[in-house]
Formats: sequence, structure tokens, C-alpha cells
Amino acid sequence: MKTNQNHPQILFQPTFGNRPEKYIGRDGIIEQFLEGLREPIGSRNRCTLFLGQRGMGKTALLLELGDRAQAEGYVVARVTAHEGMPSAIIEQFQLNGSKFFDNDKRKLTGVNAGVLGFSFGLTFSEAAQRQYGFRSKMSLLCDRLAEKGEGALILIDEVHSSAAMREVASAYQELVGDRKNVAIAMAGLPHAVSSVLNDKVLTFLNRAPRVELGLISINMIRAYFERAFKTVGIGATDEILDRAAMATRGFPYLMQLIGYYLIQYTPDGASITDSIMDKVEQAALGDLDENVFKPILNPLSDNDLVFLRAMARLGGTVTTSRLQAAVGRKGPSLQTYRKRLIEGGVIESPRRGELVFAVPYLDEYLLKEK
Ligand SMILES: Nc1ncnc2c1ncn2[C@@H]1O[C@H](COP(=O)(O)OP(=O)(O)OP(=O)(O)O)[C@@H](O)[C@H]1O
Ligand SMILES: [Mg+2]
Repeated sequence: MKTNQNHPQILFQPTFGNRPEKYIGRDGIIEQFLEGLREPIGSRNRCTLFLGQRGMGKTALLLELGDRAQAEGYVVARVTAHEGMPSAIIEQFQLNGSKFFDNDKRKLTGVNAGVLGFSFGLTFSEAAQRQYGFRSKMSLLCDRLAEKGEGALILIDEVHSSAAMREVASAYQELVGDRKNVAIAMAGLPHAVSSVLNDKVLTFLNRAPRVELGLISINMIRAYFERAFKTVGIGATDEILDRAAMATRGFPYLMQLIGYYLIQYTPDGASITDSIMDKVEQAALGDLDENVFKPILNPLSDNDLVFLRAMARLGGTVTTSRLQAAVGRKGPSLQTYRKRLIEGGVIESPRRGELVFAVPYLDEYLLKEK
């Protein structure tokens, strides 16, 4: 099949960690957080935890929130949780806030410099740079940004419990106590976030709203496909649009893959046929296997897989007792494996005693893989 090299692929980009051309189906979530930014300092929605499985759009959401918040008067520091996170946050604020001080190159000297803690713009004086820790530096930065009418938004991706996380979280609390205009959005895998919530030092995060990023609406995906194909001049019947949208099962990463391959495989000016759709599904699911399923399943043991395959065979939502019965009462005990599988982002427990696969198509993959 001739692949289509003529369309610059901006409408679909099936890679992790990018900002999609349009972030679909999460308007309510985004609006709620932005609403929080408009509320008084310290209000609950100004510190939110987003949780979702791989490929559900956590990183993309933070990028979207960052852009939207910027338009509402926030300087944004976006980091991935790691040991050096506190200083990375400071640097991000200095970098992204510097444009507000372009006309402000005059070096502050004398007594003032010591008091303000800055030598110019958002660059700390040598003494401040040396002596102050994260919290004091943040406090100075918040004041300096406030002079320009700007707040400070911290975005933390791949959040997990760590010393750096504790430092940032306790500083945040203190900054709020000092009435600084600061807000924070964090995203991570559900189990990583639960480790954060169980961390005693981070208990205040228990009060933070937790927002789950699940599958997105198939109708919205369909509408986006329709617009996108029109834009690039590709024909698609209602049936094809239905089929393409349904094939994504509402999984954002798969939507990017299917959209991408559809444009790639359909000749210029032609219409999408069922046979193109077949090839697209095959290619997209192949990528899903490689980039999502293999990394999820690789660290698992043989017994983990015994449970997963049994669960896939049973299909749909499975009760723990049925699953144990399927594996055999004398076989490995589900008790031992359940927690690990949930922590690995393989399965979820929507209700007590019930289990489902965490990502679409994973059950089918397990049944065909041997
Ligand atoms: N709501 C959405 N609308 C359109 N595209 C989306 C949406 N959410 C995610 N995507 C796209 O899906 C892909 C995966 O998203 P992203 O990298 O944000 O996932 P993630 O949750 O951060 O995954 P991981 O846990 O592996 O880091 C990206 O290509 C992203 O652009
Ligand atoms: Mg991510």
C-alpha cells in the first residue's frame, strides 16, 4: 500500500508526552482546575491530583493546563518528579518568568539587593542563591512575580512519594499559609499516587481533589476524526467514522495511533475503505502492544500471567472469587498477586471484590500472546 507522505502529520502524533493538536474530552476537568486558580489563595481546587493509567493523557493534560493557566496570569514550572525537583522548579520559574522582566535589566545594588534577594530580574543575588533553600526562594519568586500581577503554578508529572516531593509539598503548604499566589497540579499512575497519599508527611494532599482520567467519549473522538479528515481532504463515510471511533475504545493514545495511520495509509483525496481500516487497526494495535502492553507485562511473573490469562478468558468485570475458582482453589492465591497487578497498572478494582483490565485491548492481547 502506498503510504501518504504528503500530509504533515500535526493532527495526530502518536507519541508519549507530547501536546496533542487538540486535547479532547476533558473540558470539565480543565475548567474545574482553572476555576480553582480564580478562587482565593489556599482554596481546595488549587492543589489537584490527577491519576490515570498509561496513555490516558496525564502528561498531555499538564501541558494543556500549563498553557491555559499562562493565559490567565500564571508563570508555570513543569517538572517530572525526581530528586532534583526543587531546584528544577526554581529554574523553570526563573526561565519562564524572565520575559516579564525584560525591561528590568538594571542591576539592583546596595542594600536593596540584599533585601529583595535578587541581583536582577528573577536572578537571585549571590547570597540568596547560596543561603536560601527551596521554600525561601519560592517565597521570593512569588513576591517578585506578584509585582507583575503573575501567580506561580507548579506542575508535577509522574508523582510518587520521595524526599523531594515532601520538600515541595511542605513548602507549598507554607507558601499558602503566607498567602502567596501559588497553585499545584500533580499527575501520576494511580498506585504511585496512593503511595503519596499514604505518606504521613504528605497527608495534607488527602484534602486535595483527586481527579481520575479514564477513557474519553467515543462521540468526541468521532467528531474530531470527522473534522481532521475533512481538513486533510480524506473521505470517510458515517460507517467508517463509527468504526474508527469505536476501534479506539476511548483510549487517548490509541486515538492518536488510529488517526495517524488513517491519514498515513489513505491516498491523497481518496476515501477510507474497510480494507484500509483493517490495516490501520493492525498497525495501531501493533504499536499498542510494543509501547504499552509489553512494558506493562514484562516485569510480571508466570503466576501473575496465569491470573491475567484466566481473567481475560472470563471476560469483562470479574469477581475475585470467580477468578480464584478459574485458576483453581489449590493454585496460586489471588491475594498475593492482586495488589501487585493493581500497582503495575494492569488491572483495577472498580468495586470491592471486582477486577477489570486497566487498559482496553489488554485482555485480547493476553489471549493471542503465548
Ligand atoms: N484527551 C486527549 N485528547 C487527544 N489526545 C490525547 C488526549 N490524552 C492523551 N492524548 C494523546 O495520547 C498520547 C498519550 O498521552 P500522554 O503521554 O499524556 O499519556 P500519559 O498518561 O502521560 O502516559 P504515561 O503514564 O505513559 O506517561 C499522547 O500522544 C497524547 O497526545
Ligand atoms: Mg506521561
